[in-house]
Amino acid sequence: MAGKGCSKGRTKIILTGMFLVVAVAVILFVIIYFATDKRGDEGSSNGGGGGGGGPVEPGDPEPVFRLPPTLKPEHYHLQFVPDIYRNSTADFRLYGSVTIRVLCQENTLSVILHAIGLDIARNSVNVTTIGGSGGAGPDVKSLRTDEARETMEIELNAPLVKDARYDLHMTFEAPLTEKFQAVYFSSYKEEGVTQYLAASIFVPSYARRAFPCFDEPALKANFTLTILRKPTYVALANMPRRTTENRTFNGEEWLADVFQESPAMSTYLMAFTVCRFKSIEANTTRGYKFIAWSRPQSVNQTHFALDVGTAVMPYFDDYFGIPFALPEQEMIAMPDFQYGGMEHWGLVGYKERAMLYSDALPSVQDRQNIAQIVSHELAHMWFGDLLTMLWWDDTWLNEGFASFMEYEGMNHAYPQWRVHDQFVVEAFRFAMSIDAFEQSRPLYKEVRYPDDVLAAYDRIIYYKGACIVRMKYINDFAYKTATHIDLWNSLSTEAEADGLMVNVSDVMRGWTVQKNFPVVMVTRGRRGQITVSQSRYLLEQNMDSNSDEAYMWDIPFTFATTSTHNADVDPTPSDVIWLPRDKNEVTIIERSLPGPGETDQWVLANIGCYGYYRVNYDVSNWKALVRQLNVDHKKIHTSNRAQIIMDSWNLA
Ligand SMILES: *[C@@H]1O[C@H](CO)[C@@H](O)[C@H](O)[C@H]1NC(C)=O
Ligand SMILES: *[C@@H]1O[C@H](CO)[C@@H](O)[C@H](O)[C@H]1NC(C)=O
Ligand SMILES: *[C@@H]1O[C@H](CO)[C@@H](O)[C@H](O)[C@H]1NC(C)=O
Ligand SMILES: *[C@@H]1O[C@H](CO)[C@@H](O)[C@H](O)[C@H]1NC(C)=O
Ligand SMILES: *[C@@H]1O[C@H](CO)[C@@H](O)[C@H](O)[C@H]1NC(C)=O
Ligand SMILES: *[C@@H]1O[C@H](CO)[C@@H](O)[C@H](O)[C@H]1NC(C)=O
Ligand SMILES: *[C@@H]1O[C@H](CO)[C@@H](O)[C@H](O)[C@H]1NC(C)=O
Repeated sequence: MAGKGCSKGRTKIILTGMFLVVAVAVILFVIIYFATDKRGDEGSSNGGGGGGGGPVEPGDPEPVFRLPPTLKPEHYHLQFVPDIYRNSTADFRLYGSVTIRVLCQENTLSVILHAIGLDIARNSVNVTTIGGSGGAGPDVKSLRTDEARETMEIELNAPLVKDARYDLHMTFEAPLTEKFQAVYFSSYKEEGVTQYLAASIFVPSYARRAFPCFDEPALKANFTLTILRKPTYVALANMPRRTTENRTFNGEEWLADVFQESPAMSTYLMAFTVCRFKSIEANTTRGYKFIAWSRPQSVNQTHFALDVGTAVMPYFDDYFGIPFALPEQEMIAMPDFQYGGMEHWGLVGYKERAMLYSDALPSVQDRQNIAQIVSHELAHMWFGDLLTMLWWDDTWLNEGFASFMEYEGMNHAYPQWRVHDQFVVEAFRFAMSIDAFEQSRPLYKEVRYPDDVLAAYDRIIYYKGACIVRMKYINDFAYKTATHIDLWNSLSTEAEADGLMVNVSDVMRGWTVQKNFPVVMVTRGRRGQITVSQSRYLLEQNMDSNSDEAYMWDIPFTFATTSTHNADVDPTPSDVIWLPRDKNEVTIIERSLPGPGETDQWVLANIGCYGYYRVNYDVSNWKALVRQLNVDHKKIHTSNRAQIIMDSWNLA
């Protein structure tokens, strides 16, 4: 997901203050929300899986709610009929039916799955047994809805048996509204005529409002989707269309588009749209098609985004060392969309202004913004969609990774933009500007309730997340040639073998569970020696706060001196000196380090700004650096030039 509300790009610097207000508002909201105990869902603990992470305070109402691990979904046969063809929008409805193939992992007398706000026909719910004698399964005794947990319990009169497979069948319906949740309709004008479309948005936990399902990211399953539509419309989904059939439904004639079966996919990534859009397409150099959709009148404004996409996809194919998992990639410009972009697997959705580019109003900045967001969402096709976080508390890695990768993708497609040089003045600078306050929050955030998930998508996870991913990257892999694949592998070796799920709460732990960041003080001692110490950086030091001891980091420290620095070279892991969290001061001895009297000699720390920390120096070193910038600034790494300016402003 990208650009919740606001477009990315240069504007974000100007909007710093505003985001801070928003961030504080969100934090306050969360606090108030908990304090008012809105949900009041006391009762039996149903927590399966265990959410990882944070300590559970005594008196906490309930651990993270998870579906019980008794049933594992394997496949959904899903049919949707979004009826947007009535004279009154009040009559727009969604009709659906689903068959869920489940593997029983523990004997159980009940099926608990997510479903909320759906009108489920009681007599449509039944269970069939797969394999063996087959046929009808246990009878349904009762259906019960738990509003607080957004689940439905199907009580059976005989148990489902461990290691057996079953199909759960049911039909359901729901009103279609314009609310940007689950399946919704929206409208736009074409030559004065109102046109309607139906679309889905399931992130983070709205799939359960569109169909009964096991709505947790780790519960991946294959989807075979059928969508009924009227002849002048198209239906789009994650996978390419396989066939189109005539079908009678509710006494009317429809066309049923049947889509290819998807690979194992999380529910939040499923998507479809029924609309009257037009498309252009191109082939990637890897032989798969890339299709761009928009309303008919803007279809020739999709060329630029399509060019970015076709350039970036093959690059990512190589970067990750894994070919794109789906047969086709599509993008769609939505007239009304809440997010800048959303990484639906194979069918990425964008706000129109995040995807459409008009020659009539040419702007380099618009092109960069489009390239940035397209590159971000396409990185998610691998990281997020193929490899998926176990649970929402690690959303930061998902978004941090994509926010880091967007620069890699953009740099490949448009090397002349030199976007790597922009990283420090954009993501790095922005992350620090919001993370320098007591009110900031750690990247890792426990997620207890469905509503917490959206609150976890704040700016910190994008910008700080990108910095932390970049820091990990340089530490582990920078000097190898197969760097990118290694980053992928290092993350996926922590993954479970079968489901491509990653549990990352231990990755870079100090940087993810603590808010804020350190400032490293570099002091020249006698010639050939510096001392380095760390402390927590806060823009407004709270005088009576003596909690600083608790804030310490394992810091990958790098440095160079006047004689050793090469402004064109990034550090390698062998250059890293770890400043351990349990040591206040470290002395570094190295022959080239200048002594206090050598006023034209400097030491420069955090080469290339790969470490997420500020650097302060003693006065004589600041003076030597400033002199160097005046005499020949090119002697200093571009990123460090930016850092020197930012650090000297913020430490003044
Ligand atoms: C992730 O790993 C940590 C530590 O290894 C563990 O405590 C936690 O339970 C795991 N989380 C999940 C969701 O498996
Ligand atoms: C819509 O209204 C028109 C004219 O009032 C009517 O002929 C038509 O049958 C209506 N269509 C539906 C689907 O109700
Ligand atoms: C089970 O329900 C589905 C609809 O949900 C229906 O099509 C099917 O015929 C039913 N099967 C049995 C055995 O009742
Ligand atoms: C659907 O029906 C139309 C008109 O009745 C017919 O021309 C067409 O061949 C049918 N399509 C299929 C796929 O059966
Ligand atoms: C799901 O899809 C994958 C990849 O296409 C396939 O290997 C697997 O057999 C499918 N699983 C089920 C249960 O259909
Ligand atoms: C894409 O490749 C296919 C098969 O090689 C070809 O038929 C088609 O014309 C190509 N499309 C474009 C837009 O180049
Ligand atoms: C779109 O169409 C118009 C009119 O044909 C043309 O002038 C313009 O250059 C086209 N392309 C874009 C990207 O706007």
